[in-house]
Amino acid sequence: MKMTRIFVAALAALGLSGLAWAASSGQRAPEHHHWHNAGPFGTFDREAVQRGLQIYQEVCASCHSLDLIKFRNLGETGGPFESAEFPNANDNPIVMQIAAGYMIEDGPDDAGDMFERPGLPSDAFPSPFANPQQARGSNGGALPPDLSLIVKARSHGADYVRSLLLGYDEEVPEDVHVAAGQHYNPYFPGGLLAMASPLSEGIVTYSDGTEATMEQMSEDIVTFLTWAADPHMEARKQMGVMVLLYLFIFAILVYIAYRQIWANVKH
Ligand code: HEC
Repeated sequence: MKMTRIFVAALAALGLSGLAWAASSGQRAPEHHHWHNAGPFGTFDREAVQRGLQIYQEVCASCHSLDLIKFRNLGETGGPFESAEFPNANDNPIVMQIAAGYMIEDGPDDAGDMFERPGLPSDAFPSPFANPQQARGSNGGALPPDLSLIVKARSHGADYVRSLLLGYDEEVPEDVHVAAGQHYNPYFPGGLLAMASPLSEGIVTYSDGTEATMEQMSEDIVTFLTWAADPHMEARKQMGVMVLLYLFIFAILVYIAYRQIWANVKH
């Protein structure tokens, strides 16, 4: 009886502190979405990752870097342009073409000068700004965070980023003062951020013909960012399943061995 009471009290305290947190941060909990890659057997929807890449390139990349992703990652196992024909992603023509579409600063050359050259599969996506100061300068003092790990860096990352992208339409509550350069979004901690809604209906024309609705684009860019934050997710899950299978078979063998060993012992 006593234990149950303590348990109930602890639960109530937890619940209350959760409520207090939500109220103090003024942040709305993200809407739960069903992701193709969720769960122990979930895999990435390749086409969604490809469409998300297109959104990153055409919309987000003008402000956000993606430092940890190299072009060749796009063609590696689990990546959006993985191909059995090109096991070495550096030889994958789609990857080479995407990389070559960027100019990368390199150097110094023999004369000591920096120079620009077309991108190679081994290069990372270049940053839109030369340094954080320049990035802040162009964004009213706010720093657009690197998006490589954003889905992992935020709690309920995928649901949060999706809700954030879809959460700009809300009416501003009366007690919230939106300063110049700020935008109201109930899913952002504090409710005000320096990024205006980056997406709008039809802002991209998908190369695969999919209609670019807000819902579709938010799902696609988040799928891409989820892949970017965990490019080896599929291999990791497969390994997990194999390990469990192995342990299961091993447990049966151990049990059979135990029966054998003790079979003729009186007890
Ligand atoms: C015009 C520049 C600009 C573009 C384009 C842009 N962003 Fe941002 N973004 C920002 C800035 C600035 C911030 C920081 C806002 C702040 O801290 O007030 C930000 C913040 C974010 C955050 C972080 C929220 C957090 O919890 O810290 C996410 C996620 C994000 N952007 C995603 C995107 C995605 C996805 C796209 C493309 C669809 C995109 N952004 C396009 C400027 C931009």
